[in-house]
Amino acid sequence: MPLVSMRQLLDEAAAGGYGVGAFNVNNMEQIQAVFEAAQETRSPVIVQASRGARSYTNDRFLIHLMTAAVELYPDVPVSLHQDHGNSPETCLSAIDQGFTSVMMEGSLMDDGKTPSDFEYNVAVTREVVEKAHAKGVTVEGELGTLGGIEDGVGSGEVHLTDPDQAVEFVERTGIDALAVAIGTSHGAYKFTKPPDGEVLAMHLIQQIHERLPDTHLVMHGSSSVPQDLVEKINRFGGKIAPTWGVPVEEIQLGIRHGVRKINVDTDARLAMTSAIREVFVEHPEEFDPRSYLKPAREAMKAVYKQRMEQFGQAGHAGDYEPLTLEQMRERYAAVAA
Ligand code: G3H
Ligand code: 13P
Ligand code: ZN
Repeated sequence: MPLVSMRQLLDEAAAGGYGVGAFNVNNMEQIQAVFEAAQETRSPVIVQASRGARSYTNDRFLIHLMTAAVELYPDVPVSLHQDHGNSPETCLSAIDQGFTSVMMEGSLMDDGKTPSDFEYNVAVTREVVEKAHAKGVTVEGELGTLGGIEDGVGSGEVHLTDPDQAVEFVERTGIDALAVAIGTSHGAYKFTKPPDGEVLAMHLIQQIHERLPDTHLVMHGSSSVPQDLVEKINRFGGKIAPTWGVPVEEIQLGIRHGVRKINVDTDARLAMTSAIREVFVEHPEEFDPRSYLKPAREAMKAVYKQRMEQFGQAGHAGDYEPLTLEQMRERYAAVAA
């Protein structure tokens, strides 16, 4: 099956009352692990690439790896999504490469750091929506900013999403999906203790969903930072300070209130690192990369499978016939007319 529109994946998820994991990839093993997990659990899935991932793979490796995966796993409906597009140019270049969905992160300026103002966010997001929808491609916008800075991306400041402003933002931009800031952050260091309602503003999701029942909500920074993986990394010589992620039950609460796309990167990074560290420590004589990359791939696959079950996407791969981007383009044009 060709790459499909993220809008269709999320519309189907809304109709079925489940969420879809959006997993960041940078290399072949991650892509293989996502597709193996999706095939075994019969899940639709979103594969996403950050700007860093696109530069690491030089785009062409990424696109060809995805093309191979789509060919080898024809029963898995999958969208390829630009994660954290910092400018219309980044989003448009992703579309040119064959991405079927893009995020325009207009809540930050194009340096990916400085918080922008509302009018800037509306203007750049609207521009991307017009150009992307003309090609049947999905657009995710963002209102509010997450905490934390990963690889120089992010403002480090938390600005929670204002539900009333969210309504105006969606109306003026025409986005398909809205990333909300509810107190999560990227990376492994989200919370210094298990988060409660004070730090994780799940009530905002409920309020935004009540006002925007037809807009798909996106949770960034949704890794759960499994304690067993942190412990394993440290047991095999790593140095991860005590830290907590987003409990899966909170994500499931979000899914009951309109969260359809759940972004997970860190959990797979932890799984991969823990498996590689184990081989290095237990088998110091090994130097064939396959001896550690195979267990790394298996460890990531286990995380992906678990999340697919927990988010509810498992079992839904065969529910629908994917629309082509041309059919999506016609749908957008008909709504605009
Ligand atoms: O949004 C952040 C993702 O975890 C991607 O991170 O920019 O290091 O690839 P990255
Ligand atoms: P984590 O760092 O929690 O995995 O979040 C990933 C993310 O939001 C990618 O956009
Ligand atoms: Zn993110």
